[in-house]
Amino acid sequence: MNVLDIIDKKEKGELLSKEEIKYVIDGYLDGSIEDYQMSAFLTEVDLLGLSFEETLALTDIMLNSGDKLSLDIENLADKHSTGGVGDKTTLVLLPLVASLGINVAKMSGRGLGHTGGTIDKLESIRGFNTSMSFNDFKKQIKKIGVALTGQMANLVPADKKIYALRDVSGSVDSIPLIASSIMSKKLASGSDNIVIDLKVGSGALVESLDEARRLGKLMVKIGKKYGKSTTCLLTNMDEPLGYAVGNKLEVIESIDTLKGKGPDDLEKLVIELSSLMIYPFKNISISEAREISYENIKNGKAYQKFKEWVQMQGGDLSSLKVNGNVMEVHSKKDGYVKKVDALSIGKLAHKLGAGRLKKEDVINHDVGIVLKVKVGDYVKKGDVLLTIIYDKIKVTEEEVLECFEISVEKVLPQKLIIDIIK
Ligand code: URA
Repeated sequence: MNVLDIIDKKEKGELLSKEEIKYVIDGYLDGSIEDYQMSAFLTEVDLLGLSFEETLALTDIMLNSGDKLSLDIENLADKHSTGGVGDKTTLVLLPLVASLGINVAKMSGRGLGHTGGTIDKLESIRGFNTSMSFNDFKKQIKKIGVALTGQMANLVPADKKIYALRDVSGSVDSIPLIASSIMSKKLASGSDNIVIDLKVGSGALVESLDEARRLGKLMVKIGKKYGKSTTCLLTNMDEPLGYAVGNKLEVIESIDTLKGKGPDDLEKLVIELSSLMIYPFKNISISEAREISYENIKNGKAYQKFKEWVQMQGGDLSSLKVNGNVMEVHSKKDGYVKKVDALSIGKLAHKLGAGRLKKEDVINHDVGIVLKVKVGDYVKKGDVLLTIIYDKIKVTEEEVLECFEISVEKVLPQKLIIDIIK
């Protein structure tokens, strides 16, 4: 086989065999295929797509390119989010699900670009250990039902190398490449029930609803081929989730939510994801699962589990005081909030130092944004639109106001959960 013949075959619109795809992936991993050749291959895939059989073959090859997590723990559920601005769902969801007797073993990443990573958020709790050994990870799940760590095992090394190349060669938005990248990692982490929160909108990986539906259906179909219960929720990311954007601020909002005092959209999303994660194990309907999820927020059990989890991983919750300078930005007119643009807010938080551009960048856990309005709210001239917590880098009022649109006509709140694909 020869990589050029394979690229040529793809270019002509012919289907590739699993052996041919494996030849390319293995060759790229062992260095016999160069970056420029792989990037030509990925560009063809981006332009011409892959059939379902080709996507499945690619997923399988990636899945088998490294370790598979074998935790030997029953009732193991997993959730994946494609990432969004203010998306602190994992911090609330994991202890909630664990408080309901279902195990969650999560490996998360640091943030890159305008969305924050769960590991960064948790590291704003002083002492929280985000690099656990496999044995400690497993022991903790057996003991309290929940653990979260940064990458621990060598899961799907092919994805790591290919994703880095996609990032710089313009093929991050290819639907079959995203599907195989996400599903190979989910399948390698060994959960029995996979729930994916696929964000759609300005602050998300996928902006168009049609594309998101296509991606959601593809991931669910792949999961089912492996005999895994797989559900994909399409959720709005045109405006940030909740009010807080920035690491420590998001942890504080998550705690409020665990105490039943969080933003409605975040609570609703957490309850929906929790019910989808737990219902197959408990043999109950989704609406019963929703009820017991609500119950464990209201009776404090989810918050208790959160405290237990943080303590087990060495975190000190008394460290959560936010330090910084405060700047408020006010509305210049009366009207309904029509837009709180997620991408612009994410970029603003990034500029304040809440995120990183390169892997090596150091972030500031304290800085960020607290929104005071959501789409559909009515504001009067002079009302606060948001508060900024900053250190040195200040953003201008004009920049902030560009994130918003205020309209004289009535605007309805945004629909959070757009679709559920099963
Ligand atoms: N997240 C992933 O893990 N992979 C992609 O390709 C896109 C988002």
